[in-house]
Amino acid sequence: FPMPAQTRRAFLASAAASTAGAVLPVLWRSPVHAAAPHEVQLRVAPGRTRLMPEPSGEIAAWCYGGTVPGPEIRVRQSERLRVVVENGLAEETTVHWHGVRVPHAMDGVPHLTQKPIGAGERFVYEFDAVDAGTFWYHPHQRSFEQVERGLYGPLIIEEREPAHVDRDVTWMLDDWRLTKSGAISEDFGNRHDIHHNGRVGNTVTINGRVPDTFAVRAGERIRLRLINAANARIFSPDFTDLQPIVIALDGQPVAPYPPDGGLVVLGPAMRADLILDMTGKPGRRVSIFDRFYEGLEYKLVDIAYSDTPLREGAPDWPLALPANPLLEPDLETASRNEVVFTGGMMGQMVAQGMGEIMGPGAPGGMTRDMNSMMGGGMMQMMNSSTAWFINGIAADQARHDMKPALTLARNKSHVIAMTNATAWHHPIHLHGHSFRVISRNGQPTRHREWQDTVLVSPREKVEIAFVADNPGDWMFHCHILEHQAGGMMAVFRVA
Ligand code: C2O
Ligand code: CU
Repeated sequence: FPMPAQTRRAFLASAAASTAGAVLPVLWRSPVHAAAPHEVQLRVAPGRTRLMPEPSGEIAAWCYGGTVPGPEIRVRQSERLRVVVENGLAEETTVHWHGVRVPHAMDGVPHLTQKPIGAGERFVYEFDAVDAGTFWYHPHQRSFEQVERGLYGPLIIEEREPAHVDRDVTWMLDDWRLTKSGAISEDFGNRHDIHHNGRVGNTVTINGRVPDTFAVRAGERIRLRLINAANARIFSPDFTDLQPIVIALDGQPVAPYPPDGGLVVLGPAMRADLILDMTGKPGRRVSIFDRFYEGLEYKLVDIAYSDTPLREGAPDWPLALPANPLLEPDLETASRNEVVFTGGMMGQMVAQGMGEIMGPGAPGGMTRDMNSMMGGGMMQMMNSSTAWFINGIAADQARHDMKPALTLARNKSHVIAMTNATAWHHPIHLHGHSFRVISRNGQPTRHREWQDTVLVSPREKVEIAFVADNPGDWMFHCHILEHQAGGMMAVFRVA
């Protein structure tokens, strides 16, 4: 506790002298400590984790606080969080608070917002929890290896008045690439993964365990917080039979709606909060399949109703969450910026296709500039080990002097039009801000969702809008961590 020992002793003494013991905890939380941050110790170190019950199911991994996922950090909105990170790895690391609007110095990006935390060193992160919602934390140093080895954990910021549910459940989804002997395959960041769809694994886990059944009670209302912590796998669990309602995306509330076809599509780093009312009879079983990759669907988990119902029917508690304090972008006055993604295998072919689809006459068509930027990108790709380009430039992870790709006027509204001229999906993440997804291929989006990571399909053009109210140099990158390693990142300056 930050309270000086003397004050603390005096306080304890007076509290003990003047009150019965039972009152003490209440006093302890009252004004004296209201401003003290919620403090968490987080040690990063090699450890072991059990993915499956079998004897061979325990593997060597890297852990936050000794576990995979790391401990669920929970604070109340507008509380201050302080995390003391101690690096027990033999290499540098950082912690990034994905989706949380933190001040620049707390963002955990090596060389851009801080010096990486060396082996044996400590770093203290401290920030206010401005937005309520479902967030997560992970390293931003060699993420394609560190996250893959198990470094990730949930960060839940509770609403001041939490939504009324029977159970608040977090599922961190991940996949692992295991060798025949069950260890983590150490082919991190190989050329093939970088140039294709990233490191998609062969073993899917929920909260670090190969899932079996998830027990529920009839009539129960569950808030299910889904977090995709995988390097590259896109999840699309099919909850049709449970009539899911989406109440938040990437931590930010949306007007509640049932997802199309019951599918909840989550690119890497994305989150969704669902309300599931467990209607149906005791003893019911529902299998949840993941249907993102055509022909590769698999059963994610079985939902098993116990024999004892909680209530008849579903509760009628309200679903909508209170809005977070985000500034509404003004589209009339917003400045417009174009960003084009190129590269990857078959990049050239797709680039030509894009030229045809989006040629000069097409709305929002490519400019000659964009075409030549893509051409430049292709040349660079053939001549080097980089694979992916943002406006023709592949970032080199080994260099620490990234120049801003865009400079955005502070406290002004901005639209970023992103064109995916590749044959691959890219979950695109902007640090320090949440943005509205306003259109896809020229069509306004139905939910105008606030996100911090937006999944952009092959050949798709997506427009986002936000007020650049957080000053600093911010990362903008693909959250397929192998794509990021292959150059798909840039810096946006807010000044
Ligand atoms: Cu979740 Cu730049 O990261
Ligand atoms: Cu990508």
